[in-house]
Amino acid sequence: MALQHFGWFLGAGFGVQGWGDPTYGVGYDWKKPAVYQDAARVFEAAGLDLFIIEDGVTVPDTYGGTAEVNLRDARFVPKHDPLPLVPYLLAATSKLGIVPTLSASFYEPFTAARLLATLQHFADGRLGFNVVTSGSDIAAQNYGLDKQIEHDLRYDRAQEWVDVVRKLWRSWDADAILEDTERGVFADFEKVHTIDHKGEFFQVRGPLNTAPLASEPVMVQAGASGRGQQFAGNNSDVILQLASTPQRMAAYRSSIRDVAAAAGRNPDDITVLFVVNPIVTANDEESAAVRARRAELTQAAIDEALQGVSYLSGVDFKKFDLDEPLPELTTNSNQGTLDNFVRSAPSGSTLREILQARANKDGLAVIGTADQIADHLGSLADEVGGDGFLFTGQVHPAHVHRTLDPLVPALRRRGLLREELGDGGLRANLADF
Ligand SMILES: Cc1cc2nc3c(=O)[nH]c(=O)nc-3n(C[C@H](O)[C@H](O)[C@H](O)COP(=O)(O)O)c2cc1C
Repeated sequence: MALQHFGWFLGAGFGVQGWGDPTYGVGYDWKKPAVYQDAARVFEAAGLDLFIIEDGVTVPDTYGGTAEVNLRDARFVPKHDPLPLVPYLLAATSKLGIVPTLSASFYEPFTAARLLATLQHFADGRLGFNVVTSGSDIAAQNYGLDKQIEHDLRYDRAQEWVDVVRKLWRSWDADAILEDTERGVFADFEKVHTIDHKGEFFQVRGPLNTAPLASEPVMVQAGASGRGQQFAGNNSDVILQLASTPQRMAAYRSSIRDVAAAAGRNPDDITVLFVVNPIVTANDEESAAVRARRAELTQAAIDEALQGVSYLSGVDFKKFDLDEPLPELTTNSNQGTLDNFVRSAPSGSTLREILQARANKDGLAVIGTADQIADHLGSLADEVGGDGFLFTGQVHPAHVHRTLDPLVPALRRRGLLREELGDGGLRANLADF
C-alpha cells in the first residue's frame, strides 16, 4: 500500500449542511463561514490535500417540472456563492488547498483570471479552481441565453476560456515588479504585455491588472464524456471522477493519462481522485442495519435519487414509469453522470431496478468500520493504481467528526494517509508522491 492523496468534495456547495440529521443546526449556521472553517481545520489536521466546494446557479426544477422536492429537502438549494468563502477558509488554515467551483460558461475569462489571481495572492499557492461548464438550460437562462450551448461546443469554448485565463496570468513577466525606490520605478513597463487574444469565442486585450503570480492556481476538472476527458486531460492538474467499480476507475484513469500524454504532458503531473462516501459504523451489526435502511426504496429515497440525477442530467426522471425499462436517453448536460446512472444495472432494466441496484451497491458509499473502510480503500488503490480519493458528504460537525475521527488513524496505520501537509502550497503537496 502506498500513500494516497485525499481531499473532501463538498457536493452540497456553500449550501445547507446536515438537513435531516438529528444534529441539524446545533451550534452552527450553514449560512455563515464558521462551520466551513471548522471543517477546513479538521481536514488540514487530517492531512487532506484539498477541500473542493461544488457550485451551481439554479433553483433546480427539472424533477417533475417543479422545485418542490429540491426546496422541501434542501437539495442543491439554497446556496451561497463559494468565492467569498475562500478568504475565510484561507484564514482558518495554513496548508490546506482551497478549491471553489467556477463556471467557464458564465464568468468572463478576464473576470475569472483577476478574481483567481487575487485569491491566489492571499492563498500563497494554496488555491485551486474547479472548472465547470454548467450544462443546464435553466442555468443558461439566468445569463441571457434560451438554452445552454451544445455539449462539445461548450467544451471548445471552455478550452479557449482556459487558454485566455492562462495567457492573462502570464501577461506580466515574473520579474516585472521592481519596487526600486532609489530609481523610483515600481514596475518595468517592458515586462507587462497585452495578450491581444482574438478567438472563436473571446476577444481579450489584456494585460491583467493584478500583480504576477508566483504559482498559478491548480486547475481541477471532472469531465467524463469523450470530449470532457479531452478537456480534462489536456488542461487539468487534478481530475475528480465518480466511478462505481475498480475496473471503471482504472479504465478512466488510463484513458485520461493517454489524453495527457497525447497532448505532450507528463501523465504523472495529473492527480486523478475518485469520489467515495465513507459511512463509518461501529460494528458489523450496525453496517448491516445501514445497508438494510439504504436498500429500502421508500418514496423519499426515490425522490432523493431522482431529483439528483434529474438536476445533473437535465432529464426529468419523474416522467418515467418506475416499472418500465428506461428509454434510450441522451443529454446536452452532464453526459457522464447520466451514463453512470443508466449503467448501474444491466441494459433493459426498469428504473426501479436501477434504483435498487444503486441502493444495494451505491458506487460511492463504502459502509463499514473504520478499519474495514481503510482496508477497502487500500485494496482499491492497489487495484486502480490511482492517485487517491475524495471523501464526499456535507460538512456539519457531526458528519465530519463521525467520519474522520475514526478513519484518519485507520488510514495512517496502513500508510495510506500522510501525517502532515507540507508548507509549499497545493501544487507542491500534490507533487510530494
Ligand atoms: C465529482 C464531480 C463534481 C462536480 N462538480 C460540479 C460542480 O460543482 N458544478 C457543476 O456545475 N458541475 C459539476 N460537475 C459536473 C462536471 O463539471 C461535468 O460537467 C460532468 O462531469 C459531466 O461532464 P461530461 O459531459 O463530460 O460527462 C461535477 C462532476 C463530478 C463528477
